[in-house]
Amino acid sequence: MLQGKNAVITGARKGIGRATVETFAKNGANIWACAREKDMAFESDMETLSRRYQVWIHPIYFEITDETQVKAGIQKIAKERQSVDILVNNAGEAKYDSFILMPFERLRHMVDVNYIAPLYLTQLIVRRMTRNPNGGSIIFLSSVAGLGAELGNTAYGGSKSAIAHATKVLSKELAEYRIRVNAVAPGLVNTDMKKEADELYWENMIKQIYIKRMAEPEEIANMICFLASDLASYVNGQVIRVDGGMG
Ligand SMILES: NC(=O)c1ccc[n+]([C@@H]2O[C@H](COP(=O)([O-])OP(=O)(O)OC[C@H]3O[C@@H](n4cnc5c(N)ncnc54)[C@H](OP(=O)(O)O)[C@@H]3O)[C@@H](O)[C@H]2O)c1
Repeated sequence: MLQGKNAVITGARKGIGRATVETFAKNGANIWACAREKDMAFESDMETLSRRYQVWIHPIYFEITDETQVKAGIQKIAKERQSVDILVNNAGEAKYDSFILMPFERLRHMVDVNYIAPLYLTQLIVRRMTRNPNGGSIIFLSSVAGLGAELGNTAYGGSKSAIAHATKVLSKELAEYRIRVNAVAPGLVNTDMKKEADELYWENMIKQIYIKRMAEPEEIANMICFLASDLASYVNGQVIRVDGGMG
């Protein structure tokens, strides 16, 4: 599905990002796999995937909220003189607090890491992507938490709602460059992120899911792969729920 395409994927070390790297590699994409810090286990994991699927996977390191580090990471990518065809803005963090008790800094951090940081990275990449004759595909990770109004979600849900809004605006602005912009809004996914809330929260959430289980990260990666591919050539400006049926 992605043969001959080059993709930047953030948050590639674990969870949905790691699953997306493997799904993309399996489908023939070359990848710049972005992680926060240099890590030998990550490098060897990426090398194994690269050999298994016969694609190149280059680790790139930056803290996504640090603009200097992000810029340096993108410069490394630029030096390779390859087109960037796909950007998956996956890195993100979740924290849940009742609004009254929430440390205010939490709100700033959620907006910083889940909204401002991916948009900064996207701007740097888009400035290159506009030169591609065949455009490109950008995928953001929103969340059902940003589409509904769950308790304790002012900060995280707000940041994910904002990124869903940016998806729609950018899909209009970038269409003239043949760049499609979409978002995936997962429900509950079996990754480390679920540790951020207690068991009771998840038990209640699973009760609301029609198929009565959480998603595996690969099930989210499959949708990201579809949106990145030419099979989704007419899908633009969408925030697609991958939640097992909810509500
Ligand atoms: N899991 C869910 O139920 C769920 C539901 C809806 C949406 N999502 C969204 O899906 C995306 C992936 O989540 P996940 O479940 O895979 O979470 P995860 O397992 O916690 O992985 C998050 C990844 O993002 C990276 N990251 C976080 N903050 C970063 C920063 N400041 N700079 C650079 N990298 C950073 C982490 O890097 P390190 O490896 O260095 O920690 C990690 O690789 C997120 O945007 C999340 O909001 C998840």
